[in-house]
Amino acid sequence: MVCYHFTDDSGYVVEKNINHYGSIAKGGFGLVIVEATAIDKSGRLSHDQLGLWEDGQIQGHSQIAACVHQENVPVVVQIHHAGVMGCAEEVVSSSVCTVNNKTARALTLEEIETIESQFVAAAKRAEQAGYDGVEIHGAHNYLLTQFLNSRVNQRTDAYGEDKLLIVKNVIQKIRACTKDDFIVGIRMGAYEPTIDQGIAHAKVFESLGFDYLNVSFGFSFQMDDPTPADYEFSPHVYGASQIAPHVNIPVFGVNQITNPAQAQAILTQGDLDMVCIGRGVLVNYNWANDAKANQDVGKCLYCPKCYWRIPMADCAGRRLYHKNKS
Ligand SMILES: Cc1cc2nc3c(=O)[nH]c(=O)nc-3n(C[C@H](O)[C@H](O)[C@H](O)COP(=O)(O)O)c2cc1C
Repeated sequence: MVCYHFTDDSGYVVEKNINHYGSIAKGGFGLVIVEATAIDKSGRLSHDQLGLWEDGQIQGHSQIAACVHQENVPVVVQIHHAGVMGCAEEVVSSSVCTVNNKTARALTLEEIETIESQFVAAAKRAEQAGYDGVEIHGAHNYLLTQFLNSRVNQRTDAYGEDKLLIVKNVIQKIRACTKDDFIVGIRMGAYEPTIDQGIAHAKVFESLGFDYLNVSFGFSFQMDDPTPADYEFSPHVYGASQIAPHVNIPVFGVNQITNPAQAQAILTQGDLDMVCIGRGVLVNYNWANDAKANQDVGKCLYCPKCYWRIPMADCAGRRLYHKNKS
């Protein structure tokens, strides 16, 4: 979960980031996934996004990794390029593409190769920082979804013929330069643009050697959502549960999982291996310990001000949780 306005334009980790992840690590979770971290300054989502685009940024990340490891919790960092969703003056994508009145130009072949190298360099830096692995951000409308989604990717070259080529190159190059047990997961879209395509992508990702699939939405402006009207969880969880039977690597489900009973039901019924808690953790760092102890885990009120950068202390759900606790 990107922590807007913790850091500044430098993208360097600050003490707030370290304390944030240290607190989450104490919360009883099985894995910490550090927020979307930019592989290049020009590919940022926001001017105050964390970065791993230069060696000087390794030191701060090593402090995050160390404080999470102190609690015996594994930790990976998500590596990210925003593509058309970026904050730069000039944004890029697989093809010419417009979102929110911003039009991206198509990347040249040379630029795509540079971006692949930037993903690899960021992964290498993550390894040097002591992270257990990286999660490649291939979801939520960002650059890799703009290649994976056939309604967005209109290229006629190799990256259009094989919509997964950029992801294939990135993981192969990361594997070639990191240690054997370095975890490489991917956050992927279930409907890219259809569930059949999502399942097909998942199978290829497994064959490429990804260690896990963290399933969410892909390019959400171009997708067919087949979730039955009476399905009791989110369409994201539905997508994950449709993908899980087709692969033998761990599949994570996410979105609007608000209490431990729901989490358990999703794991069992959806045949999933892990559930991710996002906004619930912003409300309550201790979510998983509270769940295990049958205590109130708190509640996100879906306001949705956290998307709009309010300081965490102003989160109404968080205030309510702490009020009820005291
Ligand atoms: C403030 C905020 C920041 C987020 N940052 C990220 C991020 O860095 N990477 C990512 O993959 N998803 C990010 N998301 C999406 C969440 O990871 C998650 O998929 C979404 O919030 C749904 O799960 P939840 O209902 O448990 O919050 C963010 C969501 C919010 C609200």
